[in-house]
Amino acid sequence: MAFETRTWLVLHVLVLFVTCFMQHCFVNGQTPPVPCLFVFGDSLSDNGNSNNLLTNAKANYVPYGVDFPRGTTGRFTNGRTAIDIIGELLGISDFIPPFANIVGSDILKGANYASGAAGIRAETGKHMGANIEMGLQVANHRVIVSQIVARLGGLPQAQQYLKQCLYYVNIGSNDYINNYYLPRHPLYTTSRNYNPEEYAQVLINQASGYLQDLRESGARKFVLVGIGQIGCTPFSIAKANQGTQGCVEKYNADALIFSLKLRSLVDQLNGINLDSKYIFVNSTAGSIDSSLGFTVLDKACCLPRSSDGMCVPNSRPCLNRNEYVFYDAIHPTSAVNNLTALTSYDSTLAPETTSPMDIKRLAMLNIS
Ligand SMILES: *[C@@H]1O[C@H](CO)[C@@H](O)[C@H](O)[C@H]1NC(C)=O
Ligand SMILES: *[C@@H]1O[C@H](CO)[C@@H](O)[C@H](O)[C@H]1NC(C)=O
Repeated sequence: MAFETRTWLVLHVLVLFVTCFMQHCFVNGQTPPVPCLFVFGDSLSDNGNSNNLLTNAKANYVPYGVDFPRGTTGRFTNGRTAIDIIGELLGISDFIPPFANIVGSDILKGANYASGAAGIRAETGKHMGANIEMGLQVANHRVIVSQIVARLGGLPQAQQYLKQCLYYVNIGSNDYINNYYLPRHPLYTTSRNYNPEEYAQVLINQASGYLQDLRESGARKFVLVGIGQIGCTPFSIAKANQGTQGCVEKYNADALIFSLKLRSLVDQLNGINLDSKYIFVNSTAGSIDSSLGFTVLDKACCLPRSSDGMCVPNSRPCLNRNEYVFYDAIHPTSAVNNLTALTSYDSTLAPETTSPMDIKRLAMLNIS
């Protein structure tokens, strides 16, 4: 039964791609439902914002980008990120530029503020060097919004425009991996101050404040992504060194507490802000395995550094990249990103992934 379901999923994924590429993913000549996309997050979404920061948490070298049309850009995978593919499915032409080198009229299509190792908390990931934490990403967005106001000739026009955009927020893993789980590092005291339940709540409260800031900057359509199986990355498994096989269940359990609270926040915000719509994306829904063509689930495709799980510069990646779940010891391959993007875009492919609606329906929603 499970096998048949997944075979069915593969077929539909293929059909959707064919349909998309023939029709550019929107119906016969209509303008795309979403004119712009703003992206907030970490290395899963970073497309070059960390390249010029003083940090080890950047992917501006080979073998990152070996399958990306423009080669190495700072994306932490071999090809496109999930949000790249979601943008394409939405019919947005060209990739959303990174905030770090955005120019001119590009800003009307949106901006990507995501930064490798960044978290909701300001101190998160800073042992690796600089990163742009969520609070700064939101502040950077205010800069772009003021430029959009100027470009469109006034606040009312800008508000009318900005409310049609999608605001995609995918952040939180680093608040665990590069903060809570590093109790011996002097930067990180969170595990002494909070139990997992309290910590998840502290993170959600802080993120909720930033979401309110975005709303005050004109955002109305939000995509909020839960944390994935952070206990199942080759890096986590190697670090925990439990002498046993398989995922670090404590990590996954903590991540689930966070994600359940995020889902509740989505329900709560939908109840309060009736002029806005929030959706939750479950990053752990559905399984990725051999029935989908993935045969290597627990090893990096490139040669990972033991210190941080990133690819060793100039190392040669595996050739059968579509069969690997992980590109380095932390980040998924673009084959996995394809699936992630499709299942969050169209819920007919995987109804349990999004609630209360998928990205496609959120995009088409008329916000008054
Ligand atoms: C996500 O989906 C998985 C599998 O269906 C489920 O066990 C989990 O509770 C869901 N997570 C959230 C936050 O709803
Ligand atoms: C993702 O899907 C696109 C469109 O069908 C395809 O061109 C690309 O090869 C896929 N990437 C991977 C890594 O599967």
